[in-house]
Amino acid sequence: MATSHVYKLSAYPKEVPLRDGASAVLKPMTPEDADALLHFFLRVPPDERYYLKEDVTSPKVIQQWAAQLDYDRALPLLAWVDGRIVANGTLHRTRAGARRHVGEVRIVVDPEYRNQGLGTTIIRELAAIANENGLERLLYQAVAGREDIAIKAAEAVGFVRVGVLPSHAKDLDGHLRDIVLLEMPLGDWFKWWGF
Ligand SMILES: CC(C)(COP(=O)(O)OP(=O)(O)OC[C@H]1O[C@@H](n2cnc3c(N)ncnc32)[C@H](O)[C@@H]1OP(=O)(O)O)[C@@H](O)C(=O)NCCC(=O)NCCS
Repeated sequence: MATSHVYKLSAYPKEVPLRDGASAVLKPMTPEDADALLHFFLRVPPDERYYLKEDVTSPKVIQQWAAQLDYDRALPLLAWVDGRIVANGTLHRTRAGARRHVGEVRIVVDPEYRNQGLGTTIIRELAAIANENGLERLLYQAVAGREDIAIKAAEAVGFVRVGVLPSHAKDLDGHLRDIVLLEMPLGDWFKWWGF
């Protein structure tokens, strides 16, 4: 069982409402979740998976994540409905050095469970965990023209655009796309947003 020396995670498992009246349960990933997580990623359309940072359909990659779970480096918060993973949000951070006050959030929701508020709920949860545990800024990256809904979801939670990395992503056909960088200061800013 993975533990955290940095984050207080006693609030989990936590039930959260979906817009259709059902609910999901949020829990940090455990090593036993590897198969369910692989099946979750296989339900994400290939043209979306392509833009994620890792090859999430490789059983080897997922088994490695599960075997080396270190919440203080990458905290995967999974949403479960009826024994199935329907979303995965991750909070990444480095523990030492000049960037130790900055985290990064990534999020993927099962296509069948989108537009139910789950994406924004998980981004908010991860931001709250980061805020309560001393992180000062959060970063979020999305591919322009491919992950525009992800940009809207982050903006809805309080992230603001701070820059663009021109041509930092390449489509399968070689077409270049910009990466949009968004960030959210924590602390007072986070409180003003009403969390
Ligand atoms: C981005 C993503 C996580 C959003 O998840 P979600 O659970 O559908 O998000 P929510 O239901 O909380 O909606 C958040 C906001 O996104 C926007 N949005 C969601 N679905 C939308 C749609 N079909 N069309 C347009 N905007 C949409 C809306 O602004 C919405 O806010 P609102 O409902 O208050 O208007 C999901 O689309 C996804 O997994 N995409 C593929 C992976 C990805 O791009 N990840 C980003 C890399 S970090």
